[in-house]
Amino acid sequence: MERGHALVVGGTGMLRAVVLALARDREVTLVARRPGIVAAASIHPAAADYGDPAAFAAALDGAVAARGPFDLAVAWIHSSAPDAPLAAARRVRGRFLHVLGSAAADPSRPDPGRRAAFEALPGLSYREVILGFVREGDRSRWLTDAEIAAGVLGAIAADRPRTVVGVVEPWSARP
Ligand SMILES: NC(=O)c1ccc[n+]([C@@H]2O[C@H](COP(=O)([O-])OP(=O)(O)OC[C@H]3O[C@@H](n4cnc5c(N)ncnc54)[C@H](OP(=O)(O)O)[C@@H]3O)[C@@H](O)[C@H]2O)c1
Repeated sequence: MERGHALVVGGTGMLRAVVLALARDREVTLVARRPGIVAAASIHPAAADYGDPAAFAAALDGAVAARGPFDLAVAWIHSSAPDAPLAAARRVRGRFLHVLGSAAADPSRPDPGRRAAFEALPGLSYREVILGFVREGDRSRWLTDAEIAAGVLGAIAADRPRTVVGVVEPWSARP
């Protein structure tokens, strides 16, 4: 069977285990400023700052030219680079998992335009993965890296339009 070509943006930290799992049966292009810290035969580092649109586009286009279009993408991109997720998504033909911090579930700041912008792209299946928190008795805490990676891998397997890792309700219980 032909191996797919996945893109992971921001996969050297909490998503490291996701990159390694995807690399078992796909070629994986890994974009970060220092992508080389996660190494395996099928992981292809593409060093770029996603805050630099030209450098980011060049890294993505170079990967597509070398290994073909991305059929799966996982993007963890800080809000300091608001245009980068769409720039990545424009180069994907398949599923795009947009990993978002808990603020994406803030009931006082709904953003219906985000999904619409991605769903307008041809050939893209938009999947949002919201990182919530964990309630333990009367306390709350943020997710661990292991919980985040397991949640993202679960979202890839379950393939729903929206996945919340942990919980985002009640919003007042956010740590
Ligand atoms: N809801 C929750 O519980 C929740 C949500 C979010 C985060 N967290 C926690 O917070 C911790 C820190 O999160 P984090 O996002 O700082 O760390 P991270 O996921 O561990 O690292 C951020 C990733 O993005 C890359 N990156 C950052 N800026 C970049 C840029 N300008 N251009 C290209 N790539 C860039 C980094 O690589 P380079 O530095 O090499 O570029 C790295 O791969 C996580 O480990 C997690 O445990 C928890």
